[in-house]
Amino acid sequence: MSETGSKLDIQEYVPLAPFTTLAIGGPARFFARARNEDQVRAGLRFAERSGCPVFILGGGSNLVVSDLGFSGLVLKIELAGIDGLQNKNGELISAAAGEEWDSFVRQCTDHNLAGIECMSGIPGTVGATPVQNVGAYGQESGEVIHSVRVLDRTTLSLEDLTNSQCCFKYRTSLFNSAAKERYIIVRVCYLLRPGGKPSLQYQDLQRYFAGSAVAPSIQDARKAVLEIRRSKGMTLDDGDADCRSAGSFFKNPIVNPETADEAERKAQSAGTIASNATIPRFRTASGEDKLPAAWLIENAGFHKGYSVGRAAISTKHSLALVNRGGARAQEILELMQQIQDRVWTMFGIGLHPEPIFVGFNRE
Ligand code: EPU
Repeated sequence: MSETGSKLDIQEYVPLAPFTTLAIGGPARFFARARNEDQVRAGLRFAERSGCPVFILGGGSNLVVSDLGFSGLVLKIELAGIDGLQNKNGELISAAAGEEWDSFVRQCTDHNLAGIECMSGIPGTVGATPVQNVGAYGQESGEVIHSVRVLDRTTLSLEDLTNSQCCFKYRTSLFNSAAKERYIIVRVCYLLRPGGKPSLQYQDLQRYFAGSAVAPSIQDARKAVLEIRRSKGMTLDDGDADCRSAGSFFKNPIVNPETADEAERKAQSAGTIASNATIPRFRTASGEDKLPAAWLIENAGFHKGYSVGRAAISTKHSLALVNRGGARAQEILELMQQIQDRVWTMFGIGLHPEPIFVGFNRE
């Protein structure tokens, strides 16, 4: 249900930690929830008048907020509404940016729509998924996004961007590269496959279904992904500190094969890995090698559960940094730095963080 009216309730000094899955971060100087496009515009006008920066908040699942908080307006996108699910033979489904992603996936799989079932269980909102081209278990959102409705921050007008205008690549898009900060995503339209078969390319999924006599349904694939994610601490299970994370903390580095060879030789000759050991590689369509950051972290000498104060590497997956309870952003940053430094020293490979950092330059 979409609300009408442009009146925006602006609060002051609102702690941000409860709005992030890492549960870390100081207060927002100003904070408001936008439930329709006019309220988004009202927020932008308020920030302009006040001369302060704006940060657009979705589900807070990919964020590291500074201990000092954010000195501008945090605008939480709560636009709601899903269209197209009831259409007979319809395959274009659109969802407002504030819809919870996993609830949207569940509704689509319940309607037997294929294309996003492997992205079950990802925390966050619909509006965040195009930004870093969220993907998991063999699917990427950019493969099924038909178009993205955006509000241009400078003109305050709405625009529909086609899939190709969004420039989707591994964990990148127009929205976190060339046009960073220019648009606010208000709605995403997906092209799904009614009655389509689930995508089961990822090894973990093939293992899960190995030996099963009947072909898995879309719903079976969703169930499998949820179980696999849970085993890796990549779902939000209340009370489990291993799940208090921002998902994968680093991107998997994509390098040319020569760089991967060089990293291997360096690690072998220094005795970091055995002289006959190899770095796992996944060849991309463009002929580059994607290296598992989790493997590099472990083989650089970090063990699951390694900690800096209350910040730690998850005990279930080496790519997730977790808040064991009461961690400060500074501790997460220190742990991040230690990992980057040691992986660089041991392999000559740079690890780049995946989350967005908020409030670190005291904007
Ligand atoms: N590995 C380890 N230790 C671990 C976990 C993994 O060494 O604790 C190594 C293994 O060699 C394994 C490889 O890393 O084969 C890949 O592991 P996994 O299948 O768990 O995937 P990932 O590369 O670590 C990526 C995404 C996840 C997504 C999964 C499944 C990135 C940065 N992360 O993780 O996305 O769920 O694949 O598709 O691309 C996220 O972005 O927040 C996220 C959770």
